[in-house]
Amino acid sequence: MTNFVPTPTVPAPDIVRCAYMEIVVTDLAKSREFYVDLLGLHVTEEDENAIYLRSLEEFIHHNLVLRKGPIAAVAAFAYRVKSPAEVDAAEAYYKELGCRTERRKEGFTKGIGDSVRVEDPLGFPYEFFYETEHVERLTQRYDLYSAGELVRLDHFNQVTPDVPRGRKYLEDLGFRVSEDIQDSDGVTYAAWMHRKQTVHDTALTGGNGPRMHHVAFATHEKHNIIQICDKMGALRISDRIERGPGRHGVSNAFYLYILDPDSHRIEIYTQDYYTGDPDNPTITWDVHDNQRRDWWGNPVVPSWYTEASLVLDLDGNPQPVIERTDASEMAVTVGADGFSYTRKDDSAAGTDAVGFKLGAQV
Ligand SMILES: [Fe+2]
Repeated sequence: MTNFVPTPTVPAPDIVRCAYMEIVVTDLAKSREFYVDLLGLHVTEEDENAIYLRSLEEFIHHNLVLRKGPIAAVAAFAYRVKSPAEVDAAEAYYKELGCRTERRKEGFTKGIGDSVRVEDPLGFPYEFFYETEHVERLTQRYDLYSAGELVRLDHFNQVTPDVPRGRKYLEDLGFRVSEDIQDSDGVTYAAWMHRKQTVHDTALTGGNGPRMHHVAFATHEKHNIIQICDKMGALRISDRIERGPGRHGVSNAFYLYILDPDSHRIEIYTQDYYTGDPDNPTITWDVHDNQRRDWWGNPVVPSWYTEASLVLDLDGNPQPVIERTDASEMAVTVGADGFSYTRKDDSAAGTDAVGFKLGAQV
């Protein structure tokens, strides 16, 4: 039985979008090679302890902070709110939830002003800020545009053992669900949740957590993603391509998952869809639908379901990982041929279904 997070009586902060992630890396030079030399993220500022990176179209100080530290982990999932007063609202909201909060008028990172960080009810380090230094938006700097250019931060993905609990908490916080994955018993395996008008700002994936599953950057087109694959092949680091490229069922996006030197997972993502209307329909996928995670029906590698990054508490220590007790998506779908389908109505018919289709084409 899910122990739901209570709904606070004070208003939720008005969140605009996912804005940046701060990750701890163990070798700053190696991480710089990956994020700057390979992926082409733009350096706003750097020193011996940290590198502040942004995507081509970004005008706030950064979308990613690489901070040198002893344990690879995530220090913050940061959201921009609509006004300075909304930082106060976030602080009051989490205080009422009984969560630990820390407010810093000078910000937690360079380029960001008044912010609050919290240990949220799911154990994730969330940050809320409005004030930020504006930097040059490189949109028309085609002289800098690479063949695999990353143009925007798109979303976070979080692993949590109790997805319904996380979903209700994030809905209270003002997120709306664009898509989810369930089974016929009503077990929810994943949910995609948004504030900006795309499929998501963050997603919840069921598994041992709290952990960070991935952070995703968008490209303009599919061919930009293919170029990243070709470049990784040329550099003889194809073993860092974990999954894809492919087309997602959920979100419709074209995708690629790659692993940084500390095995933090990065998704490269493009071509999802508009979700801004108040009555945008939620799409529910069956956990046995082979096309939910990959539209072409390619299997998902087991590591994608089991591996993820630790997250830190506000003292910088890793949060303990709690095991998921509900059925895991991997357990019910990987290798479970008898329980998955491509055409639902024909799922029991096997080759007959293919025969029918071929016959119908004649
Ligand atoms: Fe994603």
